[in-house]
Amino acid sequence: MHIAQYLTEEHRKCDEEFAKVEEAVAAQEWDKAKELFEKFRDDTLLHFRKEEEVLFPTFEETTGITMGPTQVMRHEHAQAKELLSRLEEALNAKDKNTFMSVGESLMILIQQHNMKEEQILYPMSDQHLDSESMVEEMSKLGEI
Ligand SMILES: [Fe+2]
Ligand SMILES: [Fe+2]
Repeated sequence: MHIAQYLTEEHRKCDEEFAKVEEAVAAQEWDKAKELFEKFRDDTLLHFRKEEEVLFPTFEETTGITMGPTQVMRHEHAQAKELLSRLEEALNAKDKNTFMSVGESLMILIQQHNMKEEQILYPMSDQHLDSESMVEEMSKLGEI
């Protein structure tokens, strides 16, 4: 399997999971929302780890490009993590409005981030790296 296909599928799964969280929050079903949010957060963080611990270092080592796209991606992961903790706080406070507005910021950030990865970083990775062994290494960290 190609790196692009493997990681793009994870983007789609996380998007679907977040849509379910938003539905539960909109309906103010807080217990359900919390459970769905925890799954979304854990899967998103696992996806970030696959990129930060496996893909980015190998990409940098192989291409010699260390100050380019991978640095931007790491910075955006940090921003997303910050928004994830604000969402968790809003959930704990059962604050629907804050959750929805921070959630929208997170989705805008993530959509732009994912588009850059899917259009630039993943195709470059498949071009320069050993796709099969990269997917195998990333799978070892867990499945979404
Ligand atoms: Fe990423
Ligand atoms: Fe990604």
